[in-house]
Amino acid sequence: MSEDMVKYYRNRAREYEQIYEWRDPDRQQEQARLGEELKQAFKGCNVLDIGCGTGYWTERVSETAERITGIDINEAVLKIARSKTYGCPTEFRAMDGYSMEFPPDTFTGALTSFWLSHVHREDMDGWIEHMHSVLAPGARVFIVDNTYIEGVGGRLVTKEGDPNTYKLRTLNDGSQHLIVKNYFTAEELVELFSRHTDGVTLGNVFHGRCFWWISYLLKK
Ligand SMILES: C[S@@+](CC[C@H](N)C(=O)[O-])C[C@H]1O[C@@H](n2cnc3c(N)ncnc32)[C@H](O)[C@@H]1O
Repeated sequence: MSEDMVKYYRNRAREYEQIYEWRDPDRQQEQARLGEELKQAFKGCNVLDIGCGTGYWTERVSETAERITGIDINEAVLKIARSKTYGCPTEFRAMDGYSMEFPPDTFTGALTSFWLSHVHREDMDGWIEHMHSVLAPGARVFIVDNTYIEGVGGRLVTKEGDPNTYKLRTLNDGSQHLIVKNYFTAEELVELFSRHTDGVTLGNVFHGRCFWWISYLLKK
């Protein structure tokens, strides 16, 4: 977790939700579908929202979940998340998603929206194991992130010998940030999550023009 990532999301907190207003019909359609699928997936669950940010998707999930705990490393985004109204009991805590302080099997659902792409490839297996450890057997896992679209969201940067890709992002205040941003095919997602739970197939994955998501019930 680079310090620049923390600084980047702290600086971006107030402008973050602008991305959900882009006037691209495909994006809006996929976003609407995502909202519906999230509500369906987490019905009645005790949900952990990892890297919850300003609570944009937390709000949607709260329409059907039983309760939600949102965690994020940045107080700046949590302040915005805490200012909103939710449909179920919801609390937010400042916490690092790589070292979450919850007893084993605490939650019956986990949501990670637009965060997996920021996990370095070498840390991914460890993070999935850690996330699974705080979930009860049979818990619903839902992970969503961006597909790669050339020219969208800054310039793609690669480094020789480094399996990760990066994006050079410029915020409204003119500050520039190089952040890790990894992209996945549907096959790579199945391969990645199959290393940690049984029964994940291409049927668990949606891979659209703007977003991908994977949703499965944890077997442990
Ligand atoms: C792209 S934003 C997504 C926010 C929200 N989930 C959404 O979909 O609107 C990524 C979030 O992850 C948070 N984050 C980055 N590194 C983190 C870490 N190590 N632990 C917890 N949160 C982290 C950032 O502060 C930021 O709010």
